[in-house]
Amino acid sequence: MTSRGAARPNGQSQASKICQFKLVLLGESAVGKSSLVLRFVKGQFHEYQESTIGVKFEIWDTAGQERYHSLAPMYYRGAQAAIVVYDITNQETFARAKTWVKELQRQASPSIVIALAGNKADLASKRMVEYEEAQAYADDNSLLFMETSAKTAMNVNDLFLAIAKKLPKSEPQSTSGAAGRSRGVDLHEQSQQNKSQCCSN
Ligand code: GTP
Ligand code: MG
Repeated sequence: MTSRGAARPNGQSQASKICQFKLVLLGESAVGKSSLVLRFVKGQFHEYQESTIGVKFEIWDTAGQERYHSLAPMYYRGAQAAIVVYDITNQETFARAKTWVKELQRQASPSIVIALAGNKADLASKRMVEYEEAQAYADDNSLLFMETSAKTAMNVNDLFLAIAKKLPKSEPQSTSGAAGRSRGVDLHEQSQQNKSQCCSN
C-alpha cells in the first residue's frame, strides 16, 4: 500500500491522527476509473503536507466490464465511500452509473458517501450528458457531483477532498484486506474544521 504525506518536510512528527477509509470506484468500462486513480495518486497533494487533518484512502479500483459485475459486492462491502464514474460523452455510461447508485443504495453500507463523477469533461465538444441533468439527478439522490477530467486533472483532487470532508471522523475506521488491489493515499488539508473531532476518542 502506498501512503504519502505522513511526514512533514521539516521533520516534525505529525500531531494529527489519520482516519482511514475504504473508497471504491465503480462505473462502466472505459469511463476512466483507473485514469482518475492514477491522476490522483500521482502526488497532487504534496503541497498540503502542513496538515491539520489526515485522511487516508484505501482505493479499490474495480473492473467495469459487465462480466466482472458479480465481483462488485466484494469490492464495495465495507466501503465508506464510492465514486461512481460515467463518461460525459456517452449516455449509456450515465444510465449505468445510475444503476450502480441504486445498487449501492440497496446493498452497500447505509452511511456510504457516494460521489458521482462525470469524467472526460475535456471532451466538451462530444458531450452527450448535460451537466444540469446529472446535477439534478445527484441532488435528488444526495450525491456529491463533479465533472472531472483525468486528462487535464480538472476537479480530480477536489472530488477526493470533497469526499474526505463528508466522511465522519469521530471514530477510527478500519478496513480489512488492504493488500492487493488497494492503494493507500493520505490527504492532508489545511482546513481547521473538524480538527477536534478527527479520530479523537
Ligand atoms: P475498465 O478498467 O475497463 O473498467 O476502464 P476504466 O474505467 O478504468 O477506464 P480507463 O481509466 O482505463 O480509461 C479508458 C480510456 O479513456 C483510456 O484510453 C484513457 O486514456 C481514457 N480517459 C480516461 N479518462 C479520460 C479523460 O478524462 N479524458 C479523456 N479525453 N480520456 C480519458
Ligand atoms: Mg480500469
